[in-house]
Amino acid sequence: MRRRRRCLALLFIFSAFITPLGFFYFTISSESGKFGFSSEHTSGFQTSEVAEQPENVELDFKSFPDSECSDFSSNVKIDYPECLSKMQWIRNGWKTHQCYADNYIDGSECSFRYYLSQVENYCPPMTETIRRNGLAKMSPSIRRLLPIFDGIPVYMKTRINRLWKKWKEGAHEVMEKYEATMTNRKKLNVLVFIGFLANEQKLKLAKKSDHGGPLGELLQWSDLLASLSIIGHHLEVATDKDSLRSFRSFESNVKLYVYQFSCFQDTYVKRYTCFYWSVRHPGEDAAAKNKPKNVCSILWKYKERGPCQYVNGTRQQMDIIFTDIMGLNILRQYHRQFLFNNRCRIRLLDSFGTHAEFTTKTYFLQNKRKLSGPYSQRNPWGGHGLDLRQHWTFYPHSDDNTFLGFVVDTEGVDEKRQKTLYPSALVYGKEKYMWENAEKPIGVLKKFVKIHATVADLEDVNEKKTNKTSVFDDVKNHGFLNSQEISELLDTTTIFFGLGFPLEGPAPLEAMARGAVFINARFEKPKSRKNYKFLAEKPTLREWTSQNPYMEEIGEPHVITVDINNEKELEVAIKRAIELKPKPYVPFEFSPAGMLLRVALLLEKQEVCGKIARSKRWPPVNQMKIFKTINSGESCEKTCHSQKMKCESSYFSIINSPSLLQRQFGCSSTLSDASPFAPFNCTVQSSAHLFSCASRPPLDVVRVCPCRDYIPEQHAICKGCL
Ligand SMILES: *[C@@H]1O[C@H](CO)[C@@H](O)[C@H](O)[C@H]1NC(C)=O
Ligand SMILES: *[C@@H]1O[C@H](CO)[C@@H](O)[C@H](O)[C@H]1NC(C)=O
Ligand SMILES: *[C@@H]1O[C@H](CO)[C@@H](O)[C@H](O)[C@H]1NC(C)=O
Repeated sequence: MRRRRRCLALLFIFSAFITPLGFFYFTISSESGKFGFSSEHTSGFQTSEVAEQPENVELDFKSFPDSECSDFSSNVKIDYPECLSKMQWIRNGWKTHQCYADNYIDGSECSFRYYLSQVENYCPPMTETIRRNGLAKMSPSIRRLLPIFDGIPVYMKTRINRLWKKWKEGAHEVMEKYEATMTNRKKLNVLVFIGFLANEQKLKLAKKSDHGGPLGELLQWSDLLASLSIIGHHLEVATDKDSLRSFRSFESNVKLYVYQFSCFQDTYVKRYTCFYWSVRHPGEDAAAKNKPKNVCSILWKYKERGPCQYVNGTRQQMDIIFTDIMGLNILRQYHRQFLFNNRCRIRLLDSFGTHAEFTTKTYFLQNKRKLSGPYSQRNPWGGHGLDLRQHWTFYPHSDDNTFLGFVVDTEGVDEKRQKTLYPSALVYGKEKYMWENAEKPIGVLKKFVKIHATVADLEDVNEKKTNKTSVFDDVKNHGFLNSQEISELLDTTTIFFGLGFPLEGPAPLEAMARGAVFINARFEKPKSRKNYKFLAEKPTLREWTSQNPYMEEIGEPHVITVDINNEKELEVAIKRAIELKPKPYVPFEFSPAGMLLRVALLLEKQEVCGKIARSKRWPPVNQMKIFKTINSGESCEKTCHSQKMKCESSYFSIINSPSLLQRQFGCSSTLSDASPFAPFNCTVQSSAHLFSCASRPPLDVVRVCPCRDYIPEQHAICKGCL
């Protein structure tokens, strides 16, 4: 086996030299000349994509006297903390790059002020009437996404196509309900770099997903692409499947890297070999036009553009980079400088979430014993040193992280459809191993309902008639079904039956959306990194009380959470589930409108880079409520939840003040400590990396917690956040 891998690796190296490099790279912008104008009136508003006119300079800054232009009120620092230092810099700095002159800077004081107020928004505006540069327009036309369809797995294409009608309805809904929020948004340059697809081993999984149920990551990437396109940002997508084979590093200009693949378990690039190849500056490359485009060339394009945010009204800078841990590793190895400069622009797709204890390598290493259980003391998925809000999750489960989510497939849901007369159950478990040790609960289930299954890797039961009883006896196995077939099966299913694994997949929400009752397996003892092998290397201390804690909160009539190994309780639950007959239900945050609103707002308002004025913070500071932890050993998350709120980690820096602690605890002086529990008692936090909503303190420590409310069924957004 190993030798075969090595051969394959060698083959890779060779093919990198002799084959023309195939890369996947696409640009989507509103300048859709390729496809002409597409207008779709179906949703009631214009969706045509029009090339933007260059902005006109609206202000004749020469009419202002110089003294007026550099005259700032004494409290300018409060709302524009960087204004004065930028003014200072630009007086000489404007000569460093042509783009400043392109923005009409001519060395006069007023041209500096014009640039910093109207183009970059670092300083207060010069007049009341400002028209903002480049706004994002809602564009629910699938044509914008067509160019990327060649480079993504069939599963993703099918999903985007299948749900497009729902996306358009969602776009319409969100424009009707939240027009003010959705219209005045900056058009951003967004890079989507799906590192997941660059990993050969995971790629096999991706291929498998074409005939074996949805894979959380692919599903979420599909929905993210659809959202970003509809809310009208300039989108560049790199899946870079082949670019891994040979990676031209523009940072060093002269190297061609060739990966040597070694795929062992979950870790992927164990070793790599570097070859020094041709010495040619990319700018001088005669064949530049035909050069394969990959994430490198996207990064290079942005690097060449210089430091201005806008030139001629077109946004120049990379604003947001969506990637995953594979992608981040590639950036770290091959684009170190780029990553260093753009660290705060990364948004990392991170299904299970990351806690503060695991973000910095040093804290983890010092405390790894305390933070681990018997299975592993490693932290392979953490240690990125990002702001915790840069980790975007699958469910809204970690208040420290940001909730990205996905959309529940409701295509073809028919509210009037009758469930079959005889109650039926579909067991949640697409592979045979998930059914191990499930004989008892399945046996109970068989007493009440007809059981269906969609196990893909089960040999035909009838062929292998043995005299052993099998958990699959009397189970109707449908084998692999695609999304549509599963949906149809769920439409007639009374109970969707969880066996305890997989944790937090999307399927239970889909079942609920089709009117099935989800039986959610409660864990006798909560599962976590410390006691459950599957979670042992995850960068979180979160405790799973059941297979799907989010659904647990939803409760009846849609969800019953029960210990499936307790025969009596399970019988009661099954009987109850048969009686409930709930209506199809999807929480707003998992609908297209909910996701569009959330992604649009987060991209517009959430600020991770640079200094922000208190008045521009988001969520707004006036939404903050401060509580002390009530019960001993309780986290801030728990404390806020008990008030029907979320813990808002961006507020920690505001409440981390000696005077506040002195008021709250009556201390005469305060200490400072680098601890995930701080601020607590009379101790302030000394390390910004360790602010944590989730950490549970020792029993004698009382934490101070910043909470905020949220829109019902939209956990990521507070009521005053719109
Ligand atoms: C901006 O517009 C000016 C004049 O129309 C043009 O000369 C210049 O090349 C443009 N700059 C960019 C970066 O497009
Ligand atoms: C049936 O069961 C007997 C005893 O339990 C065993 O010896 C035999 O091999 C089994 N037959 C098959 C076909 O598995
Ligand atoms: C923290 O404060 C609470 C009351 O405000 C007190 O009961 C507790 O003993 C204090 N803990 C420490 C470690 O000082």
